Amino acid sequence: MIDFKNEILALKKQKNAVILAHYYQIPEIQDIADYVGDSLGLSQNASQTDADLIVFAGVHFMAETAKILNPNKKVVLPDLNAGCSLADSCQPEDFLKFLNNHPQHTVISYINCSAAIKCMSDIICTSGNAVQIVNSLPKDEKIIFAPDKNLGAYINTISRRNMVLWNGSCEVHNILSKEKVIELKIKYPEAKLIAHPECDAAVLELADFIGSTTALLGYTRKSDAKKFIVATETGILHQMKKESPTKEFIIVPADETCSCNDCPYMKLNTMEKLYLAMKNEQPEIILANDVIEQAKKPIIRMLEISRMLKLI
Ligand code: 13P
Ligand code: SF4
Repeated sequence: MIDFKNEILALKKQKNAVILAHYYQIPEIQDIADYVGDSLGLSQNASQTDADLIVFAGVHFMAETAKILNPNKKVVLPDLNAGCSLADSCQPEDFLKFLNNHPQHTVISYINCSAAIKCMSDIICTSGNAVQIVNSLPKDEKIIFAPDKNLGAYINTISRRNMVLWNGSCEVHNILSKEKVIELKIKYPEAKLIAHPECDAAVLELADFIGSTTALLGYTRKSDAKKFIVATETGILHQMKKESPTKEFIIVPADETCSCNDCPYMKLNTMEKLYLAMKNEQPEIILANDVIEQAKKPIIRMLEISRMLKLI
């Protein structure tokens, strides 16, 4: 039986590798990573690494972003099938038609999209900076926001805009229902409801706090509350419990049969696949040079605005 943890640590040293992990990864992967974060933190980290090998414990669009920011480095993803329903909901040929139907709009795309969609975008955003990125543009600017309709609608509400929204959603967050949330609020009246903005508006309207994965974690750390109803993916509970061991976290279940909101793509990565990816330096993310050049522009713009606004 291979001791994956020790083998991964040895390979990390031997290959000058860095392991970047999203909060939705399984606890063992989070615990062995050099950096664990949300999409914004991960892209900032990827833009600054001096490692030779980037091992991305997350999903495909995240590893692609790391490759775009590090074209001369090898980027591996433990399982190439780790996709994203939200990214898949926006295919390049359909998006091109949509853009042609809405000329003269600035295109802001959520980072949860393919490199091809990034090539068609003016600015990328994440849930950690989306509101500020949109607000950095003039109030009368015509904007297309893609691909997450829930995040787009949320920004429209709080920034009083009328951005044109692409009709995409995350299969994990979009199915969390208002009814389940209300049941839990009745059962735990003292608990704070915290929600990721990829959730439906009906859930967000009930929330005490809405934010990116990192922002939700920060809220639970700083809040005086002792109980939290959490409307997002289960992976984040690992860090919440680690940081606040005396607090209670109740995840909003997707339906009667399941008490877990696991992203099926994020959870494809295992310690064994992580070990094999480091050992074999495969599966590797490969992108054409022209795609890298084009997709890099809106990501760099996002990082520049985020630095200017001191968000990173
Ligand atoms: P953040 O990492 O921006 O919180 O987004 C969550 C998510 O769904 C990532 O796929
Ligand atoms: Fe995509 Fe949703 Fe999974 Fe995030 S949680 S990777 S948005 S399917």
